[in-house]
Amino acid sequence: MALAEHIVMRELDVPDIANFDVYRKHGGYETYRTVLKEKAPSDIVQVVRDAGLRGRGGAGFPTGVKWSFLPKDVYPRYLVCNCDESEPGTFKDHQIIDLNPHQLIEGMAISAYAIESHTAYIFARGEFATAVRTLEYAIAQAYAAGILGKNILGTGYHLDMYVHRGAGAYICGEETALLEALEGRIGQPRLKPPFPAVSGLYGKPTIINNVETLANVPLIVERGADWYRSFGTTRSPGTKVFSLSGHVNRPGNYELPFGVPMRELIYSPEYGCGMRDDRPVKIIVPGGASSPWLLAKHLDVTLDYESMTAAGSMLGAGSMIVLNDTVSAPHAAYKMDEFFKHESCGKCTPCREGTHWLVRVLHRMTEEGHARPEDIPTLHSIYNQMAGNCFCLLGESAVTPIKSALSLFPQEFEDLVPQRNGRPMIALDAKR
Ligand SMILES: Cc1cc2nc3c(=O)[nH]c(=O)nc-3n(C[C@H](O)[C@H](O)[C@H](O)COP(=O)(O)O)c2cc1C
Repeated sequence: MALAEHIVMRELDVPDIANFDVYRKHGGYETYRTVLKEKAPSDIVQVVRDAGLRGRGGAGFPTGVKWSFLPKDVYPRYLVCNCDESEPGTFKDHQIIDLNPHQLIEGMAISAYAIESHTAYIFARGEFATAVRTLEYAIAQAYAAGILGKNILGTGYHLDMYVHRGAGAYICGEETALLEALEGRIGQPRLKPPFPAVSGLYGKPTIINNVETLANVPLIVERGADWYRSFGTTRSPGTKVFSLSGHVNRPGNYELPFGVPMRELIYSPEYGCGMRDDRPVKIIVPGGASSPWLLAKHLDVTLDYESMTAAGSMLGAGSMIVLNDTVSAPHAAYKMDEFFKHESCGKCTPCREGTHWLVRVLHRMTEEGHARPEDIPTLHSIYNQMAGNCFCLLGESAVTPIKSALSLFPQEFEDLVPQRNGRPMIALDAKR
């Protein structure tokens, strides 16, 4: 099934589409103009709700529903675009910005109007120097053209937009840690509830949405909910940008309608072009490092929120890492958990200590070659103490790789433990 129409990546083949004049020539900001002149904010919330747009930051929460959680008559309200994008395997948001920043700015401007906000922030991961420069230039162009600022297009509406560069911490993608960092504090998560829609930036109602979510808004508003729902499935409408990486021949970002089988994304000549050297698929991590692993037998599971959940995993931000049979499952778990250990913010004990001990045991088993018989039960014990006990989802995510690896490939862990007469023994040279 080939995609008839791209939504988020629709103009990426237009030369210089990042330039304001080129974007305008292709109809850019026309929807925003119509919205400001002819629509009420509630009309926009309704069409986004009817379209069934779901947040692309990982949880898939319905965007219009989130917008309608804002408490009535509490102002100011803020719109924050989450461009932290640090999950291993995820690399779509900065490409959307690098190549077509005005689509995001227009989506944000329409969304800010919809939620009756006059201040919008884009929180960008610290390392995204190029994307930030591109955005700042595009925002300056929009101000110069009267698209942002005071009395926009003579309508009396005003909107200011700022880019804030983070310092490169994965935890700052978690929405409340992001707000802490935006307010100038250490990026550590806040207790929820209250959710940001009720009490967010500076204690005021705040909507936080992902880059891809907001980049969908202009076309949904221009063409309507029914048009949008003509793509994808009933409960996962529209298209999704999938970041495909790992042992595929052609890694990259591909926009497909929800509901396409994983096999098509990996093997189609239009997308992944199959596995390198034709080796078999061993592990599929379908939604970034925090999603439970799937196997080759799952290749016909379709890429939508419901099917992924039914298969025992999650779609997440659509970041699929495909690993072939040369990969050791314990080592893959070690590398992923090393990331979570490095990124743990240290606020809560189960995550701070749990990730440390997971990595320490996994390092001994996979890198040092000194696995002990008690290591496997210890790993089970550590992740069981973490699961459900961490302050935020970072710690819960760190449980996923080790739990997946132990449950799907138990023998590979057993094989690391030295044996004598078919029974595990403690290696004499085991380092303590
Ligand atoms: C550890 C952690 C990291 C996250 N990183 C990101 C991120 O980089 N970008 C993002 O949009 N959402 C990220 N999220 C999800 C956000 O907390 C939030 O749900 C999202 O920005 C909401 O946008 P959406 O409704 O458009 O999906 C992260 C969540 C967690 C727990």
